[in-house]
Amino acid sequence: MNDIVRIFDTTLRDGEQSPGCSMNIEEKIRVAHQLAALKVDVIEAGFPVASPGDFEAVREVARKVKGPIICGLARAVEKDIDAAWDAVKEAEHPRIHTFIATSDLHLQFKLKMSREQVLERAVWAVRHARKHTEDVEFSAEDAARSDVDFLCRVVEAVIEAGATTVNIPDTVGYAIPEEFGRLIARILEKVSHIDRAVISVHCHNDLGLAVSNSLAAVRNGARQVECTINGIGERAGNAAMEEVVMAIRTRKNFFDVTTGIDTKRIHQTSRLVSDITGMLVQANKAVVGANAFAHESGIHQDGFLKKQETYEIMTPESIGLSKSTLVLGKHSGRHAFRTRLDEMGYHLSDEEVNRAFERFKNLADAKKEIFDEDIIALIAEEVYRMPDIYELESMEAHSITGERPRARVRMRVDGERVEMESTGDGPVDAAYSAIKKITKNDSPLVGYFVKGITGGTDAQGEVTTRVREGDQIFIGQGSDTDIIVASAKSYVNALNKLENWRRNRKWE
Ligand code: KIV
Ligand code: ZN
Repeated sequence: MNDIVRIFDTTLRDGEQSPGCSMNIEEKIRVAHQLAALKVDVIEAGFPVASPGDFEAVREVARKVKGPIICGLARAVEKDIDAAWDAVKEAEHPRIHTFIATSDLHLQFKLKMSREQVLERAVWAVRHARKHTEDVEFSAEDAARSDVDFLCRVVEAVIEAGATTVNIPDTVGYAIPEEFGRLIARILEKVSHIDRAVISVHCHNDLGLAVSNSLAAVRNGARQVECTINGIGERAGNAAMEEVVMAIRTRKNFFDVTTGIDTKRIHQTSRLVSDITGMLVQANKAVVGANAFAHESGIHQDGFLKKQETYEIMTPESIGLSKSTLVLGKHSGRHAFRTRLDEMGYHLSDEEVNRAFERFKNLADAKKEIFDEDIIALIAEEVYRMPDIYELESMEAHSITGERPRARVRMRVDGERVEMESTGDGPVDAAYSAIKKITKNDSPLVGYFVKGITGGTDAQGEVTTRVREGDQIFIGQGSDTDIIVASAKSYVNALNKLENWRRNRKWE
């Protein structure tokens, strides 16, 4: 042992390309800080030329987030490369990532270029990027469907031109692990001076093989894996970082490589990305799903209690789930609360702790036992929130059999108190109708999901709402022991994001 496999996280770029997953700048910075704490090697922060909002987000991440390399994506054209450099140049460790497709299909129908022209453009792009920085990555888009000899020529030429990382994407998730592993082996074998660059892979999940393909590539010499938290990304997504990392860790004798990831932060990171993007993690998802460490059948429970390893190949603690998840109760003081936050990886300012503690005390009045999951929801709602235009002050909802449900909602709009009453098909519908009247916002609600946090009838409910305006989706989160209140909070949160966006038009 043992080579290091670099983890290149593209949650903020390819991940954000998932339908309905767009994040605002504050959210991107929060995710980037978390990725730095997780110790990823590279953060691909966005595609700066795509929009002014993208540019600003990449620049802010580059300015504020220390530790990992901060990378900006660019097509193989001058304005993209220059914009990527302008956005990342203030980073501690900046990188430009430039790409052009190499498959005949893309050449013929998309680029309308010959192989020679593509080769020339790839070399030009790398040379141009190298004028700005020594850290240049080149990607051969749709490499998995490219002619292997041509692909090898391109890889060799871009290394000659100064690319320090060469990425081999399976852009459409078409590859099969054995075949993809062979492709990487072939490139490493055929290309001269291959040792001057790190070979990277970037696999999409259209056939559910993104992680398997990435691992096959690692077995065959790839030393950078591009992936996203929870596997979000274009179409069926990208390779899930937590799966790649935990496979390498759990089967270290097999892979004989290691990553620098602090795996104890995986759960928290997964949760943060899911909260911000509104992309819920399925319960049976590997590593981070709610059932990933749950043992239901009697035989399994019996074996597990006798020896954990009988049915558990990795521990919940290794991804940051504490064994005893019971944390605090109503008599816990501020100090115990702060200590628990620190243990969970939240290093907050005094002001943030005070705000969260107040909310914690209210929750502890409504609920006997507070679990880690409750705290995560509370922090997401109380601390990591942009300044509100709309504030939910109070509400009441009535639902009597045989009568049309009614709700009365009191809010502050830009500081002014407004109160409205409305009816609806159910109490949530009535509350939403009152909120719509108050905010004068009629954007369609396109998603509403309820999830229980922890067990018991006093458990908090967590509600995710999605509101659409044009082709933008705004995601709101709310949690409370009262599900109607959680629903209202979630809706108001989504409307706040929408209204902030309308007023600033800073992110698209
Ligand atoms: O999937 C892909 O090919 C990409 C490249 C831009 C790396 O996302
Ligand atoms: Zn991709």
